[in-house]
Amino acid sequence: MTVEATQIAATRIAQAGVEAVDAVATLAELTALETTLLGKKSELSMARRSLGSLEPDQRREAGAAFNATREALGAAIEARRSELAAAEHRASMEAEALDLTRFIGPVNRGHVHPVTATRERLEDIFIGLGFEVAEGPDLETDWFNFGALNIPPHHPARGMHDTFHLDLGGPGDYVLRTHTSPVQIRHMRAVTAERGGPPIYAIMPGRVYRNERTDATHLAALHQLEGLVIDRDITLGHLAGTIDTFIKTYFGTEFETRFRPSYFPFTEPSAEVDMRTAGGDWLEIGGCGMVHPTVLRNGGIDPEMWSGFAFGFGIDRLAKMRHDVPDIREFVANDVRFLSQF
Ligand code: DAH
Repeated sequence: MTVEATQIAATRIAQAGVEAVDAVATLAELTALETTLLGKKSELSMARRSLGSLEPDQRREAGAAFNATREALGAAIEARRSELAAAEHRASMEAEALDLTRFIGPVNRGHVHPVTATRERLEDIFIGLGFEVAEGPDLETDWFNFGALNIPPHHPARGMHDTFHLDLGGPGDYVLRTHTSPVQIRHMRAVTAERGGPPIYAIMPGRVYRNERTDATHLAALHQLEGLVIDRDITLGHLAGTIDTFIKTYFGTEFETRFRPSYFPFTEPSAEVDMRTAGGDWLEIGGCGMVHPTVLRNGGIDPEMWSGFAFGFGIDRLAKMRHDVPDIREFVANDVRFLSQF
């Protein structure tokens, strides 16, 4: 090997290498090529190793030529690497680009169930009248659902309620509440414990359960809105005025109410509330009355000092009337064609 021959070889390796580097199309290919050109088994490394047979002076000169080749190849590889990296970045940005001007059609959004919307509307009306909203459990003890409300065991009024008894505790200990009236007791006790007693102006909405057949006007799981007012010198007039105000706010000022004497164990006197529909018929919408002294006592309130009224309405039934729904079971059929009308 002569110095001249090694210089020629160095130049040829450099030219061929730079051409190969320029021809590479991806970063992965470039990395593989880098090993081929500069690795231990590359032509360049092999040629370098053969310099051992030259005189020291010649070896230095020939070595310089190979070093120049190595540098030229290294520079070409780095230049190509940044070109390819930029191109790949550009391609991925283009592939992931979002067209923010593209029109997307209307999205179908759900909304609250009409019975929930009715409940919220009723709550708003009473909150506007200065009432607070209280709640109680769906699963009740026999005492809260009946006993505390002046309906002791074997009382004939129990026949008015088709009760779901639960297989829990002793026989008859627990029921699915048949009305929201037990929340009256819970709320009176809570108010007495938390703020020493009345005045109370509260509504208690919630789900109740009846073990009976459903039809166009009855559901086995329905919603009630209970009302309770306890203060000094509360009269039947306050009761009638409150209910009339509530009906006129919810249905419209042209809707009249009337009170028919009735019986509930937890109120005395008791009445049923009718309202006159657009068609002119009177329709029953709930019960009400002056809170029975026994019920006040069970709520921890002294009936000598305080008096009050209570009422209970069916929320589903109010929604049915307000929206002219012919069959109350539509509310639980979950047919979007029905629900989307609201
Ligand atoms: N709890 C009764 C029912 O579900 C409705 C009712 C009547 C509630 C009179 C009251 C009331 O608060 O005073 O049939």
